[in-house]
Amino acid sequence: MTSESVQIETAQQSTPAQQFAQLFSATRRGARLARLLAVEQLVAWGWPRDGERTDAAALVVAELAANAVMHGRLDGRGFRLGLALLPSGRLRIEVTDPRGECLPAASREAVEGGRGLIIVNALAADWGVQPCLPAGKTVWAEISATRKTSGDTLSVIA
Ligand SMILES: Nc1ncnc2c1ncn2[C@@H]1O[C@H](COP(=O)(O)OP(=O)(O)O)[C@@H](O)[C@H]1O
Ligand SMILES: [Mg+2]
Repeated sequence: MTSESVQIETAQQSTPAQQFAQLFSATRRGARLARLLAVEQLVAWGWPRDGERTDAAALVVAELAANAVMHGRLDGRGFRLGLALLPSGRLRIEVTDPRGECLPAASREAVEGGRGLIIVNALAADWGVQPCLPAGKTVWAEISATRKTSGDTLSVIA
């Protein structure tokens, strides 16, 4: 590979200036690229590059993308990252992978396993999993319009 840009399998650019969606290869490099492009999109929407919400969104994208690559991967298939600014001011992050039969813990109170979903749970105002027909699933998370007061939770994972 000569450039990270070749990791992008197909691209679907936004409609108005409030939505973004793109497919990435199901590799660690694809997951890294998803995080980088998410930050670039947020900056293009006027978010400060080093802002708390930008950092939170980048971390959530990184964890969900890593999970899509590690747990939701099917040979020859990529994962999709979607970003949308909701009328409420929340940022909705969606990561879709092709393994619909294999679900992460959907309960926000019953996150088990590694740190990834604990981080998502701490940073997101809400998150969950929904089927993506005909096969696959979307893990989504919403970043609050205002800072989430989760200092206690975050100190647990620091
Ligand atoms: N996209 C996914 N597809 C299938 N299973 C998942 C996905 N994301 C998370 N999981 C499940 O939830 C568990 C917890 O995820 P996470 O907290 O990120 O920990 P880790 O990735 O370190 O195992 C994973 O071990 C896996 O069993
Ligand atoms: Mg993980």
